[in-house]
Amino acid sequence: MYTNAPLAIPDSLVQALRQAQHIAILTGAGTSAESGVPTFREAQTGLWAQYDPQELATPQAFQRSPKLVWEWYEWRRGLVAQAQPNPGHYALAQLEQLVPTVTLITQNVDGLHQRAGSRNPIELHGNIMRTKCFAEDKIVTSWAETGDVPPRCPRCGSLLRPDVVWFGESLPYAALQEAQQAARTCDVFLTIGTSALVQPAASLPITAMEAGAITVEINPQSTPLTRYMTHVLAAASGAALPQLLQAVW
Ligand code: OAD
Repeated sequence: MYTNAPLAIPDSLVQALRQAQHIAILTGAGTSAESGVPTFREAQTGLWAQYDPQELATPQAFQRSPKLVWEWYEWRRGLVAQAQPNPGHYALAQLEQLVPTVTLITQNVDGLHQRAGSRNPIELHGNIMRTKCFAEDKIVTSWAETGDVPPRCPRCGSLLRPDVVWFGESLPYAALQEAQQAARTCDVFLTIGTSALVQPAASLPITAMEAGAITVEINPQSTPLTRYMTHVLAAASGAALPQLLQAVW
């Protein structure tokens, strides 16, 4: 699927990373592709092939068909639970030992960055392994297994839902503020494995560029961001990131 051909890393990028005091990183589904987690815009497989994720990941879909949406997330949780972090996740976690300040911002809900050792990723779109009450919007960690699908909130009896941001919903305010502050103040901004189609995450690399940061895109495909980037590494993150750390530190 991806070649491990040695990457041509410009010396100016090596120097910028070596001197960086603050590196901010935005990751998307591409960073988990080599862990076997389907990217968001890849075709759904099996039972779910007939559904468009954009039709399932909305509050309206949940209110219309709560059982179907809950079971879709249970299927995805199963996929994520079987997945393992890949060398790209581990390289990003290792970066935190090498650079004074690293801000990892992720659109992914799979928790693989944490499992690879990243200390405090900013989860812009939530985390599929967490559950919250639909009515209270508060995390629920345990509930009575009554056979109800979806299960019900032990506090108020409303339906439970995954703690992920659905289409049409706003991002967690504090997370977005922290991400935007990092984009404004970092020396280098890496955007990795994202199609840069979904706002406001896709604007973060532009905010960094406008604030004078060196910007780097790591993605086998080009995206709407590609032409603005200082550097573009057209490669898979699982192959490119270990090579990047090797070349710089
Ligand atoms: P997408 O599926 O839109 O894009 C995945 C990107 O990863 C594409 O640009 C691929 O070229 C790239 N890619 C694939 N394999 C890769 C690899 N091995 N290494 C590096 N890049 C690779 O996923 P996202 O951009 O993350 O939002 O989607 C952003 C948001 O759209 C998701 O968080 C989700 C969706 O709506 C919500 O759920 C709110």
